[in-house]
Amino acid sequence: MTNLIKISPSILSADFSKLGSEVISLEKAGADYIHIDVMDGHFVPNLTIGPEVIKKIRPLTKKIFDVHLMISPVDDFIKDYSDAGADIITFHPEATKDTAKTIELIRKQNKKVGVSLKPKSELDLVKKYLKEIDLVLIMSVEPGFSGQKFMPEVLEKTKELNNMIKERKLNVDIEIDGGINFENCSLAKRAGANILVSGSTIFKENNGDLRKNIETLRKN
Ligand code: DX5
Ligand code: ZN
Repeated sequence: MTNLIKISPSILSADFSKLGSEVISLEKAGADYIHIDVMDGHFVPNLTIGPEVIKKIRPLTKKIFDVHLMISPVDDFIKDYSDAGADIITFHPEATKDTAKTIELIRKQNKKVGVSLKPKSELDLVKKYLKEIDLVLIMSVEPGFSGQKFMPEVLEKTKELNNMIKERKLNVDIEIDGGINFENCSLAKRAGANILVSGSTIFKENNGDLRKNIETLRKN
């Protein structure tokens, strides 16, 4: 099981004054994906990374860009983030009028599709689309900021989703995002998550030893 776990460090916790070298360091340290948190100051109370920034860091690594869109309405921006170099595009169902249409828009760009659930968002929002998508991103904090406390109540939802995916023999990844640390990462894995996002733990623990932090999250 452990070797199937992927680590997706969130560059929201990187030093933006040297974002390029931070991305290169993450690749060297063994990151599987690069998680890019896109916020619009409207869907969530924070503003972060636009497509121009992604375009600039795209040539620096071949790692999968795991782009988490926290913007509403989301449809108008899918092409921009796709052209900028996203590989996986994840959106929140609350940020679109028509989830099926947004999934289709991402597909048309030949990108992997993720749907994200906030801590209080129910599985019903995603259930009927599981056949059409590649990934469900379970938020374990309210979206908006890094460095928040993990909400263990989302583990039940993660388990239920995992059972559903297994029963229906689907090929859908479960990614978990928010407050992941060296202790709770094992709970998340046991609940069925196979991709762990982490910002603060990877960039701040052990004096920012990226390799050690990525490996510890993978192994714990
Ligand atoms: C929150 C973001 C997360 C966050 C993770 O809205 O989606 O990706 O930056 O950071 P930590 O691991 O510090 O909670
Ligand atoms: Zn995120």
